[in-house]
Amino acid sequence: MTPVWTPESWRGLPIQQVPDYPDAEALTRVEQQLSAYPPLVFAGEARSLKQQLGDVADGQAFLLQGGDCAESFAEFHPDNIRDTFRVILQMALVLTFAASCPVVKVGRIAGQFAKPRSAPTEEVDGQSLPSYRGDIINAMEFDQSARDPDPERMLRAYGQAAATLNLIRAFAQGGYADLQNAHKWTLSFIEDSPSGERYQALADRISEAMAFMQACGVSTETTPALRSTEVFTSHEALLLGYEQALTRVDSTSGDWYDTSAHFLWIGDRTRQPGGAHVEFLRGVNNPIGMKCGPSLDPDELIRLIDLLNPQNESGRLTLICRFGADKVGEHLPKLIRKVEGEGRKVVWSCDPMHGNTIKSNNGYKTRPFERVLKEVQSFFAVHQAEGSYAGGVHFEMTGQNVTECIGGAQAISESDLSDRYHTHCDPRLNANQAIELAFLLAEQLKRERDAQNGRAVA
Ligand code: PEP
Ligand code: CO
Repeated sequence: MTPVWTPESWRGLPIQQVPDYPDAEALTRVEQQLSAYPPLVFAGEARSLKQQLGDVADGQAFLLQGGDCAESFAEFHPDNIRDTFRVILQMALVLTFAASCPVVKVGRIAGQFAKPRSAPTEEVDGQSLPSYRGDIINAMEFDQSARDPDPERMLRAYGQAAATLNLIRAFAQGGYADLQNAHKWTLSFIEDSPSGERYQALADRISEAMAFMQACGVSTETTPALRSTEVFTSHEALLLGYEQALTRVDSTSGDWYDTSAHFLWIGDRTRQPGGAHVEFLRGVNNPIGMKCGPSLDPDELIRLIDLLNPQNESGRLTLICRFGADKVGEHLPKLIRKVEGEGRKVVWSCDPMHGNTIKSNNGYKTRPFERVLKEVQSFFAVHQAEGSYAGGVHFEMTGQNVTECIGGAQAISESDLSDRYHTHCDPRLNANQAIELAFLLAEQLKRERDAQNGRAVA
């Protein structure tokens, strides 16, 4: 029998990636303070997302999840939030239009602060300091006081998440996301690029369709769905003290929800079946995700699904696969066969970022656009061959004109990387690359859905 879950039942279990706070009392004080702060999301919203992800699991919708690798205090600015928001809208529009398929939009935003690291310490010129673990834990500068974990940072991260979420809600509901504005979502620096032009052509077709519908009596006034949208929030549930402090009983259902975001996921480094992170997330009723990397074998995956989705609820669990472009063919089919063979309901999503990180010759962590695209294509091809549904994608991207990933139509080269390399962690697709990818993905999705409809008709 599975032991009783409580918001703190993870404490005392084996835990990975835990920061070493020098002042334990200060940590407890901050966690208590946070546990009296208002929830950031409502349980009803998380339930609505779960329902929409259930449609994805059933092949009726597509999941688009994306945003920063790590949000930072330094880059906290309304323009950055707006720009990420509009790239998500643009990508979703491309996918919805091309594949006639509802797109569920989830940002890695308003709480994506804590980062797992490959080593607990970093050494520079003979000096060893704790690794940077994200702005919610410590600071990036290489000195002792910056690198010591500081619990007060959790309060600042909470405040930034609240303000970010507030702006996202305003954009989503307040008219910015009105389909009649689709032309205006383009960021100035991509206007003249191939993907910018392609996007404008698509926005023209949407305007035409809307003018036609208006003539028939359907307008943004009569149909509110045309003038507003929903963008949900998500982050890796890594810093469990923070997550616990924001976990509350929903008065409507009597169930526990982690109110720090609509959707939480477990990282590839913290998904041990007996470990603290799996324990924590198994008890909250939000829709959740789990990263699946090359070291995950099919039996262990079933064990984890037993723990995380014992009722086999559709939309509860998203498997975010991140193998690397060359490894998808080796790892994905056996996971699909096992999971589908056992009748487990999951959303299959593809993270083509984390298995394709390389070091450039001039020392930057980067990702080649071609590898990212190749992983997505292989992911679709494997699902097609297995008769399962490729339900979503998970990107690290930004609305800023950064130079962090090489390649794409813009042909960013290794020597361009130093121009605008701003990430606080992993390299992100810039707006141009993200929209280019959305167009390529839309073609793939359209083929998948045509094949599915063909199967349904036959
Ligand atoms: C991430 O999504 O930023 C991340 C660290 O991914 P993974 O756990 O898959 O390595
Ligand atoms: Co990352």
